[in-house]
Amino acid sequence: MQILHTTREAHEYAARSRSRRVLVPTMGALHRGHLELVRIARQAAGSDGEVAVSIFVNPLQFEPGADFDRYPRPKERDEQLCRDAGVDLLFRPSPGEMYFEDRSVIVRETTLAQVLEGQARPGHFDGVCTVVTKLFHALAPHAAVFGEKDFQQLAIIRRLVRDLNFPVEIIAAPTVREPDGLACSSRNQYLTAEQRAQAPVIRAALLEAAERVRGGETSASVLLSKIQEQISSRPEARIDYVEVVDADTLQRQEVAGSNSLVAAAVFFGKTRLIDNIRLPNDRYGTNTSR
Ligand code: PAJ
Repeated sequence: MQILHTTREAHEYAARSRSRRVLVPTMGALHRGHLELVRIARQAAGSDGEVAVSIFVNPLQFEPGADFDRYPRPKERDEQLCRDAGVDLLFRPSPGEMYFEDRSVIVRETTLAQVLEGQARPGHFDGVCTVVTKLFHALAPHAAVFGEKDFQQLAIIRRLVRDLNFPVEIIAAPTVREPDGLACSSRNQYLTAEQRAQAPVIRAALLEAAERVRGGETSASVLLSKIQEQISSRPEARIDYVEVVDADTLQRQEVAGSNSLVAAAVFFGKTRLIDNIRLPNDRYGTNTSR
């Protein structure tokens, strides 16, 4: 596995290489979710292709006072996990390497980034779009894999690529979960034992909403109040938002329809967890929810 630390090295590498390259952008503290993205990247790259992983805790996407400083950075462990997963190229730049002190250009998606996470975390998606643009320029991947756990991020990256003509195929990866349903996240390790025990309520409430839709319920307000009730029954949980939205436009829906998704953000103490579920598109459950 080759490890690169500078954008210059990354450029030179990309210019020399003739193989199909599939990138998995991450902030490290790798877990099974990330490793599933790597597996999908390997499939997409083919046996002659290259799998590249980037690890960069991107200061630009953390709001002031958020967890940038305490975000876990298990350098050796991440490196070993990448080796074990058969990663060909690890790009691990330092913040000084990625950003000039007087940097003055940001990349902003102006529609999908207005709602949900964008509303709750102002500036977050500017940081994401800017760093992903830089990673795409540095490593010139043919394809890149993003997780559906961050479905809004995935939708915004698709726009970024479409609107700015990046020649990068975007591949979606399903959400990987712990056995009790909690979505794997680098932030799960912040949870106390008590919070960890209660956190699966997010998934349970979303699954129950999907079940209600299967049973014929389509009113978003009914679905949301049931979800809120279920999540709030856990003393450690504090809901940031729960919404029924169209999965493509991310616009709020009052009636769950053919393309609906429920998105939730819930605090457990200071730790903010997100999850989402596609709602079945008919009452007979032919469209399975993830
Ligand atoms: P990070 O949170 O490290 O996630 C990296 C990638 O892993 C994202 O595409 C995310 O959706 C995916 N992922 C995280 N948890 C997952 C899970 N349980 N199942 C499947 N995929 C999962 O997302 C970021 O970093 C950053 O915003 C980044 C895109 C790297 C830009 O800085």
